[in-house]
Amino acid sequence: MFGPEDDVAVFACSHRRGGNSDAAAELVARGVREAGAGARIVRLRQYEVLPCLACRACASDALSRCVLAARDDAESLFDVLLRARAVVVASPIYFYGPPSRAKTLIDRGQRFWEARRKGDAWLAKTPDRRAFACFVAGQPTGNRLFDGARLTFKYFLENFGLPLTDPPLGLRGMDAAGDLLSDPEASRAVIELGHAAGRAARGDA
Ligand SMILES: Cc1cc2nc3c(=O)[nH]c(=O)nc-3n(C[C@H](O)[C@H](O)[C@H](O)COP(=O)(O)O)c2cc1C
Repeated sequence: MFGPEDDVAVFACSHRRGGNSDAAAELVARGVREAGAGARIVRLRQYEVLPCLACRACASDALSRCVLAARDDAESLFDVLLRARAVVVASPIYFYGPPSRAKTLIDRGQRFWEARRKGDAWLAKTPDRRAFACFVAGQPTGNRLFDGARLTFKYFLENFGLPLTDPPLGLRGMDAAGDLLSDPEASRAVIELGHAAGRAARGDA
């Protein structure tokens, strides 16, 4: 699914096809390629992810495995996070946080939190890389509009050796599907985020 030619994994997290997060993911991928790296867009709505059962089986398993591993696509998405040279999250804000589909995947990432806590060797050898985020929100105002999503993605991604670059790129007043693409300044900022991710993947930043 994810090859070495891909370099940067760009997660498009919206439930809406052709919306602002999809546009952001395309602009990021363009920026990554302009920076001389490869990009692969992963559209989360195309994957099935079951909710964490909170069974705590991963906490006592020697390899922190999940009892649902063979039943859905979560592990293939985690594999992308482990193998990418850099990761970008392009996500809408839903009720001050990530959309439910992304949050469901994040909750399933509990086994990586447990693996870090226990010092599992298979995870400890994963190299540190960098993650970036671009959030789109309908509201034009709100001091803390991106705080919930920023913290949720930060604590998810760091278990994969992917510290989230702070601050994220937060784009406000993006509600209708075409709002990002009709704003040249915001579009330029997203392409520049792609440049930064491409440079990080190449080890230039
Ligand atoms: C269920 C839901 C919850 C939302 N909650 C918020 C919110 O808390 N704050 C906000 O500014 N916009 C909110 N929005 C608006 C979206 O963030 C906005 O429409 C965004 O452009 C959607 O991204 P997309 O085009 O990638 O789907 C919400 C939209 C939906 C569908």
